[in-house]
Amino acid sequence: MTKHLTAEQVARYRQDGFLSPVTVLSPAEAAACRAELEALEGRHGRLNYKLKPHLFCRLAARLVRHPAILDALEALVGPDLLLFDSAFIIKEPGDGKRVSWHQDLTYWGLEPAAVTSVWLALSPATAASGAMRMLPGSHRRGPLSHEETFAADNLLSRGQTISQGIDEGEAVQTHLEPGQMSLHDGWTCHDSGPNHAADRRIGFNMNVVTPAARQLRFAGDSALLLRGQDHFGHWRPERPAEADFDPADLAFQAEIAALRGQSVNLDRSGRLAGAQVTGA
Ligand code: NI
Repeated sequence: MTKHLTAEQVARYRQDGFLSPVTVLSPAEAAACRAELEALEGRHGRLNYKLKPHLFCRLAARLVRHPAILDALEALVGPDLLLFDSAFIIKEPGDGKRVSWHQDLTYWGLEPAAVTSVWLALSPATAASGAMRMLPGSHRRGPLSHEETFAADNLLSRGQTISQGIDEGEAVQTHLEPGQMSLHDGWTCHDSGPNHAADRRIGFNMNVVTPAARQLRFAGDSALLLRGQDHFGHWRPERPAEADFDPADLAFQAEIAALRGQSVNLDRSGRLAGAQVTGA
């Protein structure tokens, strides 16, 4: 029944609320992806935290449709897979940025409130470079209250932090080599520390729902059908990028960003100006 993931891995995801690591790219493939990303950054500036880069960047468009990633998602989510968001999530060496304990679904406006997140490493994600820590089983506790701290070193737009109920002694440090991914449930509590390593910490993040999901925070959001069928039609259909930084694709991305009430550019502190909360 399950492709790519074993029954034991699926059971562990259900039990813990995350699964890590899962290998999807060879080291050479991951290195080629990184080289392509950094060549794009050389021409167009940083892609860090840009909204839905699969709309305007061919590398992201290929990664979101990678068969090994989709096989793993299908084993967890089912045959119909809708991409609600994607992002490159990068911590530069020594930039001091961290992500406080949070649950991704807190501000996303999804109903039903269920999402599965992919975090694919394109450079080593280690304790030293600021890889994610997960709190096993926390997805079964449902929504926890977050305090909005707006701390300057916090990559989350509101600095939102779960102030109670986190036992750091139970946290599990993830460790991903380039080409490996972690998967986590949208209610799993997670955080990540600053990058103290010499290299950049580069991740590619995907947030996947079933087509039954609705966006309740605002009207007109879009999503990309990755696999299966959408019998609901709650989302405007997206097309994956066929060129890099095509003006029409960028215009569509800007339209969605405006609907979400966020800028596609980072402010000076490296945080998104709007309310998007992704992470770690
Ligand atoms: Ni997060």
